[in-house]
Amino acid sequence: SRRMAEIADENQAELILTTGGTGFSPRDVMPEATEDITERKVPGIPEAIRAYSMTITKRAMLSRGASAIRGQSLIVNLPGSPKAVGESLTYILDSLEHGMDILLGRDGECARR
Ligand code: MTE
Repeated sequence: SRRMAEIADENQAELILTTGGTGFSPRDVMPEATEDITERKVPGIPEAIRAYSMTITKRAMLSRGASAIRGQSLIVNLPGSPKAVGESLTYILDSLEHGMDILLGRDGECARR
C-alpha cells in the first residue's frame, strides 16, 4: 500500500490496477491495503465487476476487491486469475475511461456521452 500511495501522490499513474489478493486466503489483503490509502471510496466499480462476474461464475462472490480514488489516481482491485482479469476489465473498460476523464478534468459532463 506504501507503493500505491507513492504512485498516486507523485502522479506516476492515473490508473492503478492490482491483480490478485482479493480472496479468502490469509495472504489476500489487497482490499485492506487499498482501503488504508483510500481518500474516496468507489464502491460502484467492484459492485459492477462482481455483478457481471456472477453471471459467469458464482465464485465471483468470493472476490473482496475494492476500488478507490487517491488524488488524481484511480485504484481498482481485480481478481488473480488471468481469465477473471480479462472478464472484469472488458466489462468495466468504457465506463472506467469516462470516470478517468472526469477525475482528470478532461470531461465535466456525464450527460454529453
Ligand atoms: N471473476 C471473474 N470474472 N471470473 C472468475 O473466474 N474467479 C473468482 C473470483 N472472481 C473469477 C472471478 C474466484 S474463484 C475467486 S477465489 C475470487 O475471484 C478471488 O480471487 P483472488 O484471490 O485471486 O483475488
